[in-house]
Amino acid sequence: MSTAIQERLIRPASNINGSLRLPGDKSISHRYAMLAGFAEGTSRFTNFSTGADCASTLAAMQALGVKVTRTDQDAIEIAGIAGRVIPPSGALDCGNSGSTMRMLSGLLAAQEGRFTLIGDESLSRRPMERIRKPLEAMGARLTLTEGHAPLTIEGARLKAIDYTTPVPSAQVKTCILLAGLQTEGTTTVREAVRTRDHSELALRAFGAELARTIDSVSIAGPQRLHAIEAAVPGDLSSAAFFLCAAAIFPGSGLVLDSIGLNPTRAALLDVLTLLGAHISVLNLEEKHAELVGTIQVAGPAEGLGSTAVTGALAAQLIDELPVLAAIGPFTNGGIRIRDAKELRVKESDRIALVARNLRAMGAEVLEFEDGLDVPGGQTLHGAKIDAGGDHRIAMAFSVAALRAQGDTVITGAESAAISFPEFFDLLDRVAER
Ligand code: S3P
Repeated sequence: MSTAIQERLIRPASNINGSLRLPGDKSISHRYAMLAGFAEGTSRFTNFSTGADCASTLAAMQALGVKVTRTDQDAIEIAGIAGRVIPPSGALDCGNSGSTMRMLSGLLAAQEGRFTLIGDESLSRRPMERIRKPLEAMGARLTLTEGHAPLTIEGARLKAIDYTTPVPSAQVKTCILLAGLQTEGTTTVREAVRTRDHSELALRAFGAELARTIDSVSIAGPQRLHAIEAAVPGDLSSAAFFLCAAAIFPGSGLVLDSIGLNPTRAALLDVLTLLGAHISVLNLEEKHAELVGTIQVAGPAEGLGSTAVTGALAAQLIDELPVLAAIGPFTNGGIRIRDAKELRVKESDRIALVARNLRAMGAEVLEFEDGLDVPGGQTLHGAKIDAGGDHRIAMAFSVAALRAQGDTVITGAESAAISFPEFFDLLDRVAER
């Protein structure tokens, strides 16, 4: 799907105030859609992600024989295929979604047939070797195009493996677990940094058994899944834009309701607290083993301090780093990011694009192969921002624009709809001018 490039004007704000409820978590929605599609019975979800990425997963699952019915704007029913996909008539289009392509590949590798997965221009540049290696070790055949999509999978009866992921990646971990789910024997994934564990929690919610240690997860297959009913927690990575926006305005006050607070995703709350933002979490509950709660945030009167994001923290915060870097100039002491080389192979080269756009706004910034130094105490000026087709860049710089001097134009603003179509409307609702 190609959408026309849109420009969006962002005027400076004087404060951030209000209360919002955000659409469902993208990571959890992808997993619920895949597992429900694969399970026996009909699953029902409310607050399912409204983003285009999760629509790509739903469409791919439909092409494999899954029945998806929208019962309300954000409520869906998914009738599963009980473990056997129907060979699709054409290529499966994953759009902009790396999660769809990498995780679905694991599900398909254990199925009979030949499957071709394609994506848009950005997805076709992203590394896929990382899923070819483990899936071929299990016995499937993957043909890539110079290490990228389009990719073709020849499914097979797989054998269990014990695999250590070379780069921390929840998508690769999930890919292997979804293959292992259908494979006789025990498949183990080991990781040096604990990545988001939504797949582990979701697999259990759908009835699978997994064994976990501090640095590994094992699944003994084959296992069957059964349908569930669930409300998807609000997306913390979408909330990140609002949390950062509130944090840079002294005296702001924002309440975000029913947000997913899975500890493997919630590092931003610690980082913002360390920076001096006042954050509290209320009404904490557990839904299908996922923590959900209300977040209250207020910007400190003295402004934000300084912080460094390195090592394991960089991997855990990977989706939030663009917005954190974009607010760096408004801190007193700056933000230092290292060990985040993966940012270069996301929907865009996020290190290069953050640096370029910060400079366009007049900031000083140092770029490194694996990170950025963004000095604090800087004034940003409204500018023309190039989102580079990347949803998180479009939203990160919309946040920076709120405290810039003069108006900012986000070119490629339509890309926000990849994860968060409601973003600009909700920003207008809480930005006081
Ligand atoms: C995701 C994992 C991360 C993240 C992406 C979503 C997931 O990617 O950047 O936005 O849902 O598993 P990697 O697994 O490649 O690190």
